[in-house]
Amino acid sequence: MRLTEAQAVAWGRRAGEGARPPLFVGLSGPVGAGKSVLARAIAAGAGVGGFVPSPTFNLVFRYPLPGRPAGAVVHADLYRLRSQEELAGIGWEDLLAERAVLLVEWPERAGDALPADRWDVSLRVLPGEPHLRGAEVRRVGNPGPLPRLGVVRE
Ligand SMILES: Nc1ncnc2c1ncn2[C@@H]1O[C@H](COP(=O)(O)OP(=O)(O)O)[C@@H](O)[C@H]1O
Ligand SMILES: [Mg+2]
Repeated sequence: MRLTEAQAVAWGRRAGEGARPPLFVGLSGPVGAGKSVLARAIAAGAGVGGFVPSPTFNLVFRYPLPGRPAGAVVHADLYRLRSQEELAGIGWEDLLAERAVLLVEWPERAGDALPADRWDVSLRVLPGEPHLRGAEVRRVGNPGPLPRLGVVRE
């Protein structure tokens, strides 16, 4: 599926509006693929107000949403993750156990520590198409609902 940035943001907002914890969304793809744009849109849809910075250096930002269906949004970027010990250091197990909507860039860096029930969103840069991105959403296990975007069941 090919998406403009506006289409990606619209889908992300809808996904965030409908998101109910616990929900894990992995966002994979190379630098510049649009992972952060999508994470921001989902966070905004879930009720996070204001700017959502990229957690590239901090690894994790947490946004409590008292009174909102999402409960909280956790935005993580594992790009700089060096080891499984570091994953423990950011409280990964606690984050997974929390009633929150988890948005994780570079989820493959978590290796075996990924939850069994999740959505994997994979984004691609398309050569010669600077205004579009390739996107595929894959359901793994039995996660909570997410709006359709060409869903592939694993
Ligand atoms: N679906 C899209 N179509 C076109 N451009 C996009 C799309 N999503 C994001 N972009 C653009 O790509 C650039 C990188 O986006 P970003 O979300 O920061 O990437 P990543 O987090 O994957 O490194 C931004 O300039 C953004 O405007
Ligand atoms: Mg990013």
